[in-house]
Amino acid sequence: MRNPRDFLKPLAIGAPEPLREIPIAPTRMIHFFDPSNERMRARVPEIAAQVDVLLGNLEDAIAGDRKVAAREGLIEVATSAELGETALWTRVNSLDSPWFLDDITEIVARAGNRIGVVMLPKVEGPWDIEYADRLLAQLEAKHGLERPILLHAILETALGVVNVEAICAASPRMQGISFGPADLAASRRMKTTRVGGGHPGYVVRADPVPDQPDAPRAAAQQDLWHYTLARMVDACNAADILPYYGPFGDIADPLGCEAQFRGAFLLGCVGAWSLHPSQIAIAKQVFSPAPEEVAFARRIMEAIGKSGGGVTMLDGKMQDDATYKQAKVMVELAQLIARKDPEFRAAYGM
Ligand code: GLV
Ligand code: MG
Repeated sequence: MRNPRDFLKPLAIGAPEPLREIPIAPTRMIHFFDPSNERMRARVPEIAAQVDVLLGNLEDAIAGDRKVAAREGLIEVATSAELGETALWTRVNSLDSPWFLDDITEIVARAGNRIGVVMLPKVEGPWDIEYADRLLAQLEAKHGLERPILLHAILETALGVVNVEAICAASPRMQGISFGPADLAASRRMKTTRVGGGHPGYVVRADPVPDQPDAPRAAAQQDLWHYTLARMVDACNAADILPYYGPFGDIADPLGCEAQFRGAFLLGCVGAWSLHPSQIAIAKQVFSPAPEEVAFARRIMEAIGKSGGGVTMLDGKMQDDATYKQAKVMVELAQLIARKDPEFRAAYGM
């Protein structure tokens, strides 16, 4: 049993109090960079000006002999780069790796006040979050941090998917979850070498034409990831944390990337990873609601507000308390984005 009153108490004496609500700001794209790469570090201020979240990656894609350089590069960026309002996150190495302990110890000690969120890869159950939660509290207390560092899990193992609800609810430190289709495909023994996106082999075919066995039969491609994303969105929203689409690996396919991001946005995700500068604009466009949708949502709110909450018709479409709430989701997201982004402020007329 866990005493519910303890949930919001620090897990180490002197650590900052856990947050009651996670901070809400636009996080349409989490832009990955390799902090071991000097050229990328030099470009950080320029990229930071274009993105909502900048993430220094220490895990996969960073070779074993570059791990320490990446950690040091991240600490250099955190302590010296001009990032403006842009949030700085990191993806540390997984809990079973030889680097995790030094990643977390060094980062909290030397840049703890500059890192908002630590992304944990390959989380399998609430025990992984509980371990990182306590360790962070001990380190925050030791180094006198004033606000807690938040945790973000990557959903990329079969066991993690089975436990996703418990992972989301494991700690008030949980900020969100990202979907990790590459590791997840491997963990599930799926037969795809792609990083996210669709697959031409995953189709449903129309029935045979009677007495014409050779007649062509239409096929429609299905979404390999629908079940996982939908389950992740529910688990996150049930715990009041945020769901994200993760990586789309085919950088040369912006249309495929846009479709995958848009599906995730429509299902409830608030952002995605950008692995290449060309994906920043795609994520910005997709995860900012379309101005026409926002305008219609405002009309719904006005119509229902004016008619006292009952049923009303707008352009032939029924509106009631439920559509008011749907519209409010859209308008509040637009307001959040408008406060930060002048381009969308103008487009929304806010
Ligand atoms: C991301 O880390 C993935 O494995 O897809
Ligand atoms: Mg992964």
